[in-house]
Amino acid sequence: MDEQIISLLKQIKYPGFSRDIVSFGLVSKATLENRMASVKLELSSSEPTLPQSIRNSVEQCLLASDLIDEVEVGIVVKKTTDGAGSQAAQDESPKAFDGIKKIVAVASGKGGVGKSTLAVNLACALSNHEAETGETLKVGLMDCDVYGPSVPLLIGASEKPQILRENFLAPVESYGVKLMSMGLLVDEETPVVWRGPMVMKTIQQFAENVEWGDLDVLLIDLPPGTGDAQLSLAQILPLDGAIIITTPQKAAMDVARRGARMFEKVNVPILGVVENMSYLLNPDTQEKSFLFGQGGGPLTAQALKTGFLGEVPIDEEIRLGGDHGIPVVVSNPEGNSTKAFDSIANSLADLVRIS
Ligand SMILES: Nc1ncnc2c1ncn2[C@@H]1O[C@H](COP(=O)(O)OP(=O)(O)OP(=O)(O)O)[C@@H](O)[C@H]1O
Ligand SMILES: [Mg+2]
Repeated sequence: MDEQIISLLKQIKYPGFSRDIVSFGLVSKATLENRMASVKLELSSSEPTLPQSIRNSVEQCLLASDLIDEVEVGIVVKKTTDGAGSQAAQDESPKAFDGIKKIVAVASGKGGVGKSTLAVNLACALSNHEAETGETLKVGLMDCDVYGPSVPLLIGASEKPQILRENFLAPVESYGVKLMSMGLLVDEETPVVWRGPMVMKTIQQFAENVEWGDLDVLLIDLPPGTGDAQLSLAQILPLDGAIIITTPQKAAMDVARRGARMFEKVNVPILGVVENMSYLLNPDTQEKSFLFGQGGGPLTAQALKTGFLGEVPIDEEIRLGGDHGIPVVVSNPEGNSTKAFDSIANSLADLVRIS
């Protein structure tokens, strides 16, 4: 990739959006040789006029540079996420997120590391936080895991969201957190077997049609993995940053890094790393046992050149809280695990300057 070409391409906005084509992760090649610029773009839209329109913008922009005499633009239209980009390109910039100050994704490369548990407890911890005005923070939580939406269970919500005018959905509220999840819209028995493109279309509509109102922060629980669905979500949602969650094993690092690379691709900053299931505390001796090894969190943070936001112990109360739909932060405000979640919430609030 040629940095000069990349910085020129950063001036080109994706039609209908305020973000540029580089930050959307569309540029797969950008070279400059003998005053000839060669650019390859990968689009995931079926909007027929989009490739030509972006091609024209790229050619115009590059030919205006003194360094370039000739431009070659290759465009590949990918079918896998068909539908995700096309709707977005036709729409005006989405309005659903206008009243939200910061949008932060909770992500991991691997499943089952405690993403949803962290998202739920962080949301509850943040909603107890005071903003500069002295009021508590307004917090939203969006569960984007359409295959296994677990947030409603973890936070004890089962109410069906109300449909407002123009097909907007009203989030439901639990422990002071505004919540939206696919789990609230489908019956528990309904198997969620949609395939990629269908899922993306649904998620996009779902993400852009929630009436959040004014929020200080919206946390996003992403589905596990680093595939097309996650990448498209990172492109659709106007994210201000992402938190990567990992476990203490050093082997988990590579997976966490893969997760982080996905955000780099779309220019979303990694705000920090959280380590879950760090140790088991003996309540009598206060001794810590490091069942899953040690060091994975801080080492991952180092490798990603980002901060370490803190560790969360293995705690039966955390699991029970999830099983009963009362997050530990709510059920035991003085407990050890609550202190861990609070401290992470503090760091996050500082990082995104919402308190
Ligand atoms: N620190 C912890 N101590 C004890 N149990 C935990 C802890 N963190 C998570 N769990 C439990 O581990 C299980 C998996 O957690 P969770 O659903 O949050 O993971 P996830 O990363 O969101 O999974 P998925 O990838 O399936 O979305 C849950 O039963 C949860 O209660
Ligand atoms: Mg989950």
